[in-house]
Amino acid sequence: MDSFDASAITAPDLAARIDPSTLRNRSGGPLYLEIADELRRLIENGEVSAHTRLPAERALSISLDVSRVTVASAYGHLREGGWISAQRGSGTYVSPTGSLPSWGSLAGDRETANLEFVNASPSASPLLSDAYGVAAEKIRVRFNLGGYAPSGLFELRESIAAYYRGRGVPTTADNILVTSGATDAIHAVLATFTEPGARVLVEHPTYPGVVELVNSLGGRCIPVPIDPDNTDEFVAAADRSARQSAPTLAYFMPDFSNPSGARLPLSTRRQLSATMHRHGVLTIVDEVAADLSLDGSPDIEPFGAATPDVATVTVGSTSKTVWGGLRVGWVRAEAGLLARVAATYAQRQLSVSIIDQLAAVELLGKYDEVRRVRAEASRTARDHTIALIRDHLPGWHFRVPDGGLALWCSLPDGIRSSHLVADAQSQGLLLAPGLRFGTGYAFDDRQRIPFTRSLSDITSAIEILARLSSENIPTPAAASSTPAAVV
Ligand SMILES: Cc1ncc(COP(=O)(O)O)c(C=O)c1O
Repeated sequence: MDSFDASAITAPDLAARIDPSTLRNRSGGPLYLEIADELRRLIENGEVSAHTRLPAERALSISLDVSRVTVASAYGHLREGGWISAQRGSGTYVSPTGSLPSWGSLAGDRETANLEFVNASPSASPLLSDAYGVAAEKIRVRFNLGGYAPSGLFELRESIAAYYRGRGVPTTADNILVTSGATDAIHAVLATFTEPGARVLVEHPTYPGVVELVNSLGGRCIPVPIDPDNTDEFVAAADRSARQSAPTLAYFMPDFSNPSGARLPLSTRRQLSATMHRHGVLTIVDEVAADLSLDGSPDIEPFGAATPDVATVTVGSTSKTVWGGLRVGWVRAEAGLLARVAATYAQRQLSVSIIDQLAAVELLGKYDEVRRVRAEASRTARDHTIALIRDHLPGWHFRVPDGGLALWCSLPDGIRSSHLVADAQSQGLLLAPGLRFGTGYAFDDRQRIPFTRSLSDITSAIEILARLSSENIPTPAAASSTPAAVV
């Protein structure tokens, strides 16, 4: 952690701001989470500012008239989310951060940016152009019909169902809702099942769009740390969190999680799915990266295939295998659950573009080839990126992912992603700050580097980062000046 002169807040002062009687009158979850929530609120609204030293657990437990274990659990929860951190021998401090703009807010800049490394979004599959050619022919017969297909074209729903059947999951067109990308799919699912105050378990780090969405729906993400090299521990941690936080939903990316790259082996995903079901948690499974295996490692049984169908709702899209601009995604769920999601989606969207859906049918018809072509290009780009980072950024560490579209790098001591991102932006390189992949203040010591641009762009990007490093960057750029960053 950076060195700083800390101000401190006393236990009685903090307890007075928390107001224990208010806490006890609240309905719902465990006391430690209510305390953690109150502390987070005080931090968020600036009443307790960054770098403030918090009272010792014992002192705060006396002032709040709760057990020390309760305060320790509240602190532990905030530490996991990165809101506070403990410094050996000197206490617990509110973590530094900046105000972060919304996830989708850089779209305009991304269009014109020379080196856009915010998104992990590859250029279009070479197979897309022909697919649009076929779609342009096929669409003519529809011109004398109404142009809306509320749940998606039957033809496409059937193709997507066949894709799941091919993966061993019994599915018919009645289990499929076509959406405009996985973004709309996730939105529709969360909007259907997130009650205000609902807790949603998420991997930590996780996909930022979801954290924002859960917050906007009045829910709260409960971070569960994931270590790609020890995914068994993730099951135990998720089980603990489910017992402690009484979540109703979980959002997991079992294949090539974004950004950690973690992939759950068969037994682990079966256990995790069964554990969530036992806790009455509906798991939203994001499979956007599921078909991005790079080194030929075989597909693994889809998450939830061995648990009752009502335990899982799966979302997917063609954005990473084909192109983000195609905007075809879907929800796969048990028919009763799907009907509820479809009703939510119908409130905001009458239909996904017909020509895009027809192109998607064509592409799903040759999906093995689509996947092979994407894997080849991504593997080359990944290996190019790895070689450059190893050569030019020796203090950066990462695990080589065998799938997905990005490296999740640990930065050298003292380098903050928020600073690095601001400095890189001044050189024309746009990156997503590590903080965006956490639920609170975590991951400012991490940087995601997508390997989705051309090899020459990747070279230019790493050269900029190397130059910034050798110029002894980071400068003391304020975290609050972090540019809008998106994926
Ligand atoms: C894990 C994950 N889920 C969903 C999305 C959104 O995908 P789409 O472009 O299909 O809306 C992304 C895009 O980056 C992603 O990485």
